Amino acid sequence: GAGPDLAGRHVVVSAGGTREPLDPVRFLGNRSSGKQGYALARTAAARGARVTLVSANSALPKPAGVDLVHVGSARELHEAVTEAAADADAVVMAAAVADFRPASYAGGKIKKKDGQDPEPLALVRNPDILAGLSADRPRAGQVVAGFAAETDDVLAHGRAKLAAKGCDLLVVNEVGESKTFGAEENEAVVLGADGSETAVPHGPKEALAETVWDLIAQRFPGQG
Ligand code: PMT
Repeated sequence: GAGPDLAGRHVVVSAGGTREPLDPVRFLGNRSSGKQGYALARTAAARGARVTLVSANSALPKPAGVDLVHVGSARELHEAVTEAAADADAVVMAAAVADFRPASYAGGKIKKKDGQDPEPLALVRNPDILAGLSADRPRAGQVVAGFAAETDDVLAHGRAKLAAKGCDLLVVNEVGESKTFGAEENEAVVLGADGSETAVPHGPKEALAETVWDLIAQRFPGQG
């Protein structure tokens, strides 16, 4: 830790994985546990920040000293992050957000019909929260960071994603069915819009979180 270097700052962190409901009992989801986002929230609080943690479907206990907002779907996450970001110095999108959701929601449980093939599942796009925040910053000098979860050609995809999303920092990590998702540890390369690349070796998710806050703090207006 770097001491209370985030004192007086409001930071927003998203964590966990969205669930896109199909009917009252089913959803499309992903394998995020929330551990990386909660580690970011805990470390920012320990460094003195006021923290709003927007958490999607994580089973983790509430970290002490953070404001916790629970959400389910990508659209709920979008609304909660946008509201909290209005007066934030930094936003970090660690949540795994569904790019698509079912085109329609069935008010009653979808039934199988005897002898019939299932209907194909129609999907529509969700808003890109990170790209939207990066393009329309509610506050001048707000620092916006995202994550890129990749399974192959990790750095190449990460560099392309940084350009597409328009954020200041992108934390590129490799994921698999049990790689990074749900694990206690992570490793990453943090790409900066200024061309910087910071490699963070395999270690606790808190250690990666500390590096992310170091890089964010350097980018606050008036810092060097
Ligand atoms: O929760 P854990 O089990 O600890 O696992 C951690 C993690 C793997 C979930 C985390 O480290 C991580 O990589 N989070 C981002 C997952 C993700 O959605 O990656 P992506 O490459 O699909 O999205 C890129 C960025 O855009 C992310 O910051 C994401 O939050 C954001 N996004 C994506 C889609 C969308 N519609 N809106 C967004 O804002």
